[in-house]
Amino acid sequence: MKDKQKEFLPLPVSKAEKLKQLDEKNKLALQGGGEKRIKAQHDKGKLTARERINLLLDEGSFEETGKFVEHRSTAFGLENQKYLGDGVITGYGNLEGRLVYVYSQDFTVFGGSLSEAHAEKIVKIMDLAMKNGAPIIGLNDSGGARIQEGVVSLGGYADIFYRNTLASGVVPQISAVMGPCAGGAVYSPAITDFVLMVEKTSYMFVTGPNVVKTVTQEDVTAEELGGAMTHSTKSGVTHFACKNELQCLKAIRQLISYMPQNCEEDAPMMKYKPQEDEARKVLDDIVPENPNQPYDMRDVVNGIVDENSFMEVHQNFAENIVVGFARIGGRSIGIVGNQPASLAGVLDIKASIKGARFVRFCDSFNIPLLVLEDVPGFLPGTDQEWNAIITNGAKLLYAFSEATVPRVTVITRKAYGGAYDVMNSKHIGADMNYAWPSAEIAVMGAKGAAEIIFRREIADTDDPEAKLQEKIEEYTNKFANPYMAAQRGYIDEVIYPHQTRVKLMKAFKMLENKVDMLPKKKHGNIPL
Ligand code: HXC
Repeated sequence: MKDKQKEFLPLPVSKAEKLKQLDEKNKLALQGGGEKRIKAQHDKGKLTARERINLLLDEGSFEETGKFVEHRSTAFGLENQKYLGDGVITGYGNLEGRLVYVYSQDFTVFGGSLSEAHAEKIVKIMDLAMKNGAPIIGLNDSGGARIQEGVVSLGGYADIFYRNTLASGVVPQISAVMGPCAGGAVYSPAITDFVLMVEKTSYMFVTGPNVVKTVTQEDVTAEELGGAMTHSTKSGVTHFACKNELQCLKAIRQLISYMPQNCEEDAPMMKYKPQEDEARKVLDDIVPENPNQPYDMRDVVNGIVDENSFMEVHQNFAENIVVGFARIGGRSIGIVGNQPASLAGVLDIKASIKGARFVRFCDSFNIPLLVLEDVPGFLPGTDQEWNAIITNGAKLLYAFSEATVPRVTVITRKAYGGAYDVMNSKHIGADMNYAWPSAEIAVMGAKGAAEIIFRREIADTDDPEAKLQEKIEEYTNKFANPYMAAQRGYIDEVIYPHQTRVKLMKAFKMLENKVDMLPKKKHGNIPL
């Protein structure tokens, strides 16, 4: 490599020679770590950094920055190993014609490891993204800190983490992990808004299997410890586990389509041709007759939103709550729905964290929120209490309470206890609250309530079972319906399920110029 660089010396004199020099450099930069390493990358089922960028962005739109950057290290013979670009391709381009900034780590150059110069390139486009108000997309494929550079590399990481934090809530930040991502390197993706991983070829962990074995004696493979399935199901670190790289890049394009460029803008409205009849009869048959029977809240979502517009986020994590983006009448919305098909839709620690993070993203970027509610309450038990369901449940409560975007709730069935308050109730700032006739809005389920408040009366009869049934019925008639809440104005309207889509289209249109402010403060203190 050093010899090739020497070919550029002495300095050319003629114009033709200068152009030739540029041609040579350009060619060299495109070679990355060389043919052998590119083949090894392909053999692992991975694309190169440049191939990924080309597939991600609109064709021909990529403009590169820092193509000829080289590292400055002289330790361990590195002065003899230089590659133009130093292991990361950076620049800007378009997604559906909208500006985005991109960096893509090149595993063929020092395993994509992060040197001082490599970090500077990333920092440069992050600064540009923030100043110009456009999303940042990072395609990560890196062995972590460039070991030969020591603390300089650690400093480079910190420079990136710092900017990730400053950019949070200013421009959307998306991280795709498309190879190894170890050590401190995982903290940049963790600060960004969405993390995507590719099944079987990517992993994330703070310490790898060898260190784990030494410290905890656990035998675990890299895949088990930090693969895409692990992080999309167990830890929730990743929001999307993608089958392959192509699917991952496509998912990024779709994800960005729901978002505005920055926190000052609204998400783009998609062209939508209103149908003659927007009523959705299918919604009338989703909630079962028996209130204890499950149904899939995704059927409600798909019945309400524009066809094929729902993109579920965190699909495999905390399945008792469903979150994702969709469009209604072309308008981008964020949806949070309890999921009766999993744990009866109960709120637990993971569901609260998942919901809260999604709500905060939507609120940061002016994406209106729709809540679909069917929740029997918070999950009881020592496991939940000892692991702080109080603090974690409060995250969801806090996130909704401080959200100033248009907020609409539809109660499809149960809205019990504290969970009624938390799930975007009128009391914590929701703008429009609807209920289906099947809604049950009460402190708790009828059986539990009857057992507590009529305990003595039931015990004192000859037939306690019959008395209990009578009292359950009494409580059900009084509270297991939406009308008490509607009397108070906590529910704006009890609607027929098939009307829901039309009602929501009108409500979000009515709310599109909503202005709401939080009290002046430096920042709030969400219960972390
Ligand atoms: C310099 C590195 C490197 C690194 C890999 N390479 N990681 N060079 N610094 N961190 C080089 C290898 O020497 C090799 O060079 C090429 O990249 C490909 O690596 P392989 O090992 O051949 O590839 P593979 O078998 O696929 O294994 C990939 C790997 C492994 C799992 C990432 O390379 C690895 O374990 N690397 C070290 C990971 C690590 O411990 N990083 C530091 C984490 S601590 P050649 O010339 O042979 O092609 C950290 C602190 C950050 O990041 C803290 C911030 C707060």
